[in-house]
Amino acid sequence: MTGADRAVPGAGEGTGGASDWALRPAGLEDIEEIAAAELELFPDEAWSPLQLAEEIGHPSRRYVIAARGADASGALLGYAGIMLAGELADLHTIGTRCEGRGIGRALLAWCEEQAREGGAERMLLEVREDNARARSVYAAAGYREIDRRRGYYRIRGRAIDAIVMERTLAASAPPAPGPPSVS
Ligand SMILES: CC(C)(COP(=O)(O)OP(=O)(O)OC[C@H]1O[C@@H](n2cnc3c(N)ncnc32)[C@H](O)[C@@H]1OP(=O)(O)O)[C@@H](O)C(=O)NCCC(=O)NCCS
Repeated sequence: MTGADRAVPGAGEGTGGASDWALRPAGLEDIEEIAAAELELFPDEAWSPLQLAEEIGHPSRRYVIAARGADASGALLGYAGIMLAGELADLHTIGTRCEGRGIGRALLAWCEEQAREGGAERMLLEVREDNARARSVYAAAGYREIDRRRGYYRIRGRAIDAIVMERTLAASAPPAPGPPSVS
């Protein structure tokens, strides 16, 4: 994981470019806060601390958090994680407590960089059909809809389709706006 062990600054907030948050790889010490954020962001399908520990500790996963402070040592603002599977990577989760500040985009860019470094050529993700905001964010980041999985989510007895989206991870892709490349 080239360079993934250090914090990278987040994007500025339009006031001189200074940022008050940064990204860093997630560790087991972050599980409690991520679990709390899961309950806020995904109340119907939150992962438990045990599930999160299995995810973050798995050798094929790469997890990142966004947190306050130049070294990302402060309060958790967001998190994301991927699974590496050969030429494919799968975005397992992404979420932020502070929407519209570029955190989601920065988390996604970190995941894409990790996927490239891990040998992936494509990133796949599943998103709930009724999550219009996330679908727009992914489309803005270059993802296109390639499939639909009927009834993939079951939320309080209601079946909701998943939209499968994909993006090619070109080796020479320019870094997305937001934090500088971690490599
Ligand atoms: C999806 C989510 C992670 C996006 O994070 P975010 O920090 O709000 O997104 P950003 O501020 O980084 O915006 C990303 C890009 O999408 C664009 N965008 C954001 N909302 C948009 C919308 N409704 N329509 C079109 N574009 C949109 C932004 O303009 C930005 O593009 P830019 O950098 O070129 O300006 C966030 O909304 C979230 O945590 N949602 C709740 C959890 C969730 O649903 N996760 C996804 C599960 S699949």
